[in-house]
Amino acid sequence: MQQKLKLAIAGIGNNASALMQGVTYYESLHQQGVKPEEWPGIRQSVLGGFSVFDIEFVAGFDIDERKIGRPLSEAIFCGENNYPVIVANLPVGPSIMRGIAAEDDVAAVAEALKRSGAEVLLYGLPTGLQQQAEWYAEAALAANVAFVNCTPEKIARTPEILARFTKQGTALLGDDLASHFGSSVIHKGLLKLISDRGLTLQSSFQVNLGGNSDFKNLAINPSSKRESKMNALGGVDAGKVEVIPSGGFLSQLEDTKIAYFNITAAGWAGTEVVFDAKLKVQDSSNAAGVIIDLVRVAASQQRMGLGGMSQEVASLLKSPGM
Ligand code: NAD
Ligand code: NA
Repeated sequence: MQQKLKLAIAGIGNNASALMQGVTYYESLHQQGVKPEEWPGIRQSVLGGFSVFDIEFVAGFDIDERKIGRPLSEAIFCGENNYPVIVANLPVGPSIMRGIAAEDDVAAVAEALKRSGAEVLLYGLPTGLQQQAEWYAEAALAANVAFVNCTPEKIARTPEILARFTKQGTALLGDDLASHFGSSVIHKGLLKLISDRGLTLQSSFQVNLGGNSDFKNLAINPSSKRESKMNALGGVDAGKVEVIPSGGFLSQLEDTKIAYFNITAAGWAGTEVVFDAKLKVQDSSNAAGVIIDLVRVAASQQRMGLGGMSQEVASLLKSPGM
């Protein structure tokens, strides 16, 4: 069996919690002898030679004082994090280090990445921090660590950055993960169905509601996410389709997300068809179910020395780099 994937994480938020707890959950199913075909919620049990639980968390970075200095297994329950507890016994994990708050911090984070032996850096800061995303990408390049961008910030879509990763042989997968069964994949599928069946779209909207810190932030900083969510719908008429990344922060929902969809179309002889739907999901599980594939592809690419973006994962991203 090949060596476990050594993963570093920037941004110890709900996605990190869902990922670490989920990896531990699948490892315990494996130890109980449950066959991979029976594991719930997995697209591919083995990808790039790695099983879902072949992940070793080797470094974590945050700027929240409530998380710095704590082991990953504790930090994932600190601060604003509100992903539920789903497993009892977690491996302790690395102690969370201070992340990048200014350009001067890039070199120290690059050094820490090298020391940790990380192969992949998972970037999951709050949405809207283009500068910070670029600094972490610089640190990854300096340490020759693959970079996976979970956020809508333009890293894989910035041609000069992508070219540097490609030239150096360092993997870069981004931008903005498309959740496992999230509002983008569902909305895109519904709009395609309307068009495939020959109906004429008149108007459509998607409104998302949640109670985690991502939703709190998206209610104030929606622009990069809104643009990326429109990209994810694949060439729709922006005059007819509206997407609201966070229709409001509802603390009662914690890390669950509710999305409402409406599609109004004209059918035979111009008569009206109205479709309304509601989706309710554990928001950060929906991210982890895709992160697990992105990090495994990134690591296998890295081990083969293949730099840049892999089109194999384009469907797992809302705004893939070319
Ligand atoms: P979160 O808000 O729970 O966590 C973000 C973490 O980043 C926090 O711990 C915060 O303290 C930390 N942080 C802020 N500035 C930092 C810095 N300079 N260095 C290091 N850490 C810093 O967010 P999340 O739910 O874990 O999501 C992470 C990202 O993934 C968000 O941008 C989100 O929009 C994106 N995303 C999430 C989903 C999903 O959850 N379904 C889907 C697609 C994209
Ligand atoms: Na999340």
